[in-house]
Amino acid sequence: MMSKTGDLSGSEREFDFLCVDDFMERMIDSRALATAFEIGLIDSLARDGKATTESLAETIRTDSRGLHFLIDLLLTNGVVELNNGSIALTPAFVKALRFRDLMEIKLSISNFAAHDFLEFFTDLVAAPDQFMSKARFHRLFAYDRCFSFSQEDRRITEQWMRITTVLTKYEARACLKYHDFSAYGRMLDIGGNSGEFVLQLCREHSDLHAAVFDLPLVCDVGRNHLAGEPERSRIDFVTGNAATDDLPGGFDLVTFKSMLHDWPDDLARDLMKKGARALEPGGAMVIFERAAYVPGALSPGHSILPFLIFFHSYRASDFYVRYLEELGFSNIESRIINLEMPFILVTGVRGDGG
Ligand SMILES: C[S@@+](CC[C@H](N)C(=O)[O-])C[C@H]1O[C@@H](n2cnc3c(N)ncnc32)[C@H](O)[C@@H]1O
Repeated sequence: MMSKTGDLSGSEREFDFLCVDDFMERMIDSRALATAFEIGLIDSLARDGKATTESLAETIRTDSRGLHFLIDLLLTNGVVELNNGSIALTPAFVKALRFRDLMEIKLSISNFAAHDFLEFFTDLVAAPDQFMSKARFHRLFAYDRCFSFSQEDRRITEQWMRITTVLTKYEARACLKYHDFSAYGRMLDIGGNSGEFVLQLCREHSDLHAAVFDLPLVCDVGRNHLAGEPERSRIDFVTGNAATDDLPGGFDLVTFKSMLHDWPDDLARDLMKKGARALEPGGAMVIFERAAYVPGALSPGHSILPFLIFFHSYRASDFYVRYLEELGFSNIESRIINLEMPFILVTGVRGDGG
């Protein structure tokens, strides 16, 4: 039985960045915290250490009654505390602020996804196709606009790539902890997005070279993302459509990170088969994905709404394990890693037959 991810207290959690979710358990808390960032309250307290409500209202030019109400919500959520009439950020929040990019992205996507959840949850449960046609959150990820380079396509693509990039910056740590990447020399990350995942791996392993395979505009944004990184010289971007194009070959590692759940079963298998062909015999495939919902395993808070609304798409590890067996892989292993919700990490080694 999986542990109850949402119930783990700070000290029991494996990854320090998960503390950001503590401040977004409830919708009202998440909305209040997003506002506190938006109006400069968090920055002001982070800079000045403490302030009275009156001085804060002046510094950030906010309606005083509104500010009192907001501060009350932030007190309840443990974001701020009162010391002798002054307001200060709590030590726990200051700690979480080290992961500010993650906190702000999670606030923004959970507050966005909440609209779909509130309006269309019945469809999500009873008629998933209806949900997909009505919901708006998943439309952010407009892959169909990643084949051309218009200014508008770029704006839209950069917007959703900021989300995947920040999430991956942190999720990659779990993969690095539970899989030993030190023996690999040449990897291919299929659907590798901005290159953030391979960047994290290349930083840890100085002999590793990587290719990111993704749609043309995604690769272009990725090249900008990695510009100036010392690891950039070890990372190539290969543009194409993984569904229709051949993939490059000769790798000793192929990875799929949060990629295969986007595809129906038959196409996901096709992608895995292509990934297998891109490997030299003895090379490894690593699949890292959010796991299918397991009854009783989760106590969902507001911050997981953007992932929860995709719950029909996540698979149990059996799907990947069985297909790796069919493809003749050996040393197949799978494990669950608990982040804000459970992830599966499935790995296997390609046999001679391919
Ligand atoms: C959910 S995102 C995950 C991105 C990245 N692996 C991560 O974990 O942050 C799925 C990725 O697959 C890419 N993708 C979608 N359709 C594709 C296709 N037909 N060929 C290649 N890449 C594709 C998207 O551009 C995107 O980068």
